[in-house]
Amino acid sequence: MKIHSLGYIGVNCTDPARWASYGTQVLGMMDSSAKLTGAGDDTVYLKMDDRPYRIIVNKAATDSFAFSGWEIAGPDAFADALKTLEKHGVNFERGSADLAALRRVQELASFSDPDGNRHEIFWGAVSDFQQFASPVGIKKFITGDQGAGHVVLPTPAFDKCKDFYKNVMGFGLSDLMKVRFTPDPAEPEKRLYFMHCNERHHSLAIFECPMPAGAVHVMFEADCVDEVGRAMDRMNAHGIKLTGTLGRHANDHMVSFYMQSPSGFMIEFGAEGRTIEDWSRYSPFQSTVNSFWGHDFSVGMK
Ligand SMILES: [Fe+2]
Repeated sequence: MKIHSLGYIGVNCTDPARWASYGTQVLGMMDSSAKLTGAGDDTVYLKMDDRPYRIIVNKAATDSFAFSGWEIAGPDAFADALKTLEKHGVNFERGSADLAALRRVQELASFSDPDGNRHEIFWGAVSDFQQFASPVGIKKFITGDQGAGHVVLPTPAFDKCKDFYKNVMGFGLSDLMKVRFTPDPAEPEKRLYFMHCNERHHSLAIFECPMPAGAVHVMFEADCVDEVGRAMDRMNAHGIKLTGTLGRHANDHMVSFYMQSPSGFMIEFGAEGRTIEDWSRYSPFQSTVNSFWGHDFSVGMK
């Protein structure tokens, strides 16, 4: 399967209006629900570029991450992707015409990884190219060929999932970590693999640990580091919990901080992430630290 980029994410929320407020006032995205949501529907759509949306918030009984939507470059690659799913015996469902209309794509299909993380693949996003005009003045998010950002998913069945993302979904390994939550050497190490499908250092990471919220975090990238600082100010002003302090990651060089989202998982808000133009010249590595500096996650445990 040849994935072009992360197209969108879906989240579940007991009160989608909380995402409308958080998404616009803290993340600085546009609420495009008025244009996209039908009568009697309280789905919230958040827009961060010229696409009609990049986040879909569905009303649900729980607060959690719901699915990742991966863009495939065109109908031929989409047909190849379905053949790959068939070849590997992955159960998938073709999206109905109604669902494709709702997602504003030509065609889509959905399936799960061996741990039950939900994915959609699609081609041919529909856009009216309405200009992005952030309610808090962000000039742009880094999207385009790099996609909406990255997602980090819980994969306790790590070996099966690692093979699934490599062999079925076609992600390449960017780098890896092995982490412990305590200094106790008897605690088993949990693997964290970062994977790419375009020039963004990673669009996906998988973590050998269960997470009730359905995702570890989702990252969005603004166009300059001042926007990261301004987002921290907005987080404080709106009483949102900081879950990881400001820092620069050792792998994707992102300057970022982490905060709580209304659906239980964290949002990483960053800038200055590096890109890899030629993966054939890149050599994966194992890092023993998260970051060159900062990113203290103990603040989230307090
Ligand atoms: Fe991240």
